[in-house]
Amino acid sequence: MPDVQQTGLTRYLLANRAFVAPAVEKAVGAMDLPGRTRLLDAGTGAGGGLVALARAAGPAARILAVDHNPDVLDLARAHARAEGVSDRVEVRAADLVDVLDAAAGAGGGFDAIWAADVVWPGNFDDPRALVARAVRALRPGGVLGLFTSNYYQAMFLPGHSRLERALRTASELNWGLPSGGPTHYERHAGWLAAAGLLDVRVEVFPRVGSPVDADPTVRPYLENAVWPELRESARKRGTDAGLSSDEVAEAVRLLTPGHPDHILDTAGYYMVHPTLLAVGRRPLN
Ligand SMILES: C[S@@+](CC[C@H](N)C(=O)[O-])C[C@H]1O[C@@H](n2cnc3c(N)ncnc32)[C@H](O)[C@@H]1O
Repeated sequence: MPDVQQTGLTRYLLANRAFVAPAVEKAVGAMDLPGRTRLLDAGTGAGGGLVALARAAGPAARILAVDHNPDVLDLARAHARAEGVSDRVEVRAADLVDVLDAAAGAGGGFDAIWAADVVWPGNFDDPRALVARAVRALRPGGVLGLFTSNYYQAMFLPGHSRLERALRTASELNWGLPSGGPTHYERHAGWLAAAGLLDVRVEVFPRVGSPVDADPTVRPYLENAVWPELRESARKRGTDAGLSSDEVAEAVRLLTPGHPDHILDTAGYYMVHPTLLAVGRRPLN
């Protein structure tokens, strides 16, 4: 994982949580949760999906939120408390694989599993196998939702599309993603179908910053979650991604808050950012 994600993890998680919250709420709403009582928030981080899950499923639901990084769990607990849903939520430090295998082995399983920005090669050597594991941890009729807020799909440098493409490539290289690139989100629906789920579909929930400060979550998201990672990627892997040293310097200027060339402060700046939900349902028998 690039250094920036470790040192700025809290800032990243909080900025990302605030920015994607409206999309998460809609995506969770598309999961058909009412009446489902045993839910898993897989890789909860700062609790990005917790509140929406608790509200959508209703007061009878119990949500187990797990993350293998114990350092982030207080953020999730505080969020659940602040939003008044902590009575329905258990936050636990655990590895997702262990939790899924325990649920499958017990023959009980979850009515719904939500995994946001978790199932990808950076976290699991074989994300397709992880999806199959999650399916085995569902009760019959249970639903699995894989949500992606990844900015690789976003338009964030309008007017600099070639630079934007090269920065994505530099970022993929910096993350050490497989040579096929970060295609995990393109494959989510295929993995759900291959694991035997029914009614598999993909839905898109856009986030737009236009003008950029009309939505107060956009600038903190870009400045705290996206720009640091892209600046680091430009410096470390920009030339490997086909950028000249002048272009690397230009990218860094465009992505540096406070610099006269900072792109967020240029007239007419906007960003368009899709988020994706791939969802499917386990057969009843
Ligand atoms: C990009 S963050 C997303 C957090 C949260 N789902 C959200 O949407 O805000 C990915 C999280 O998955 C967790 N994670 C990665 N691999 C895991 C595993 N094997 N078991 C449990 N958690 C894991 C990481 O620690 C991190 O907090």
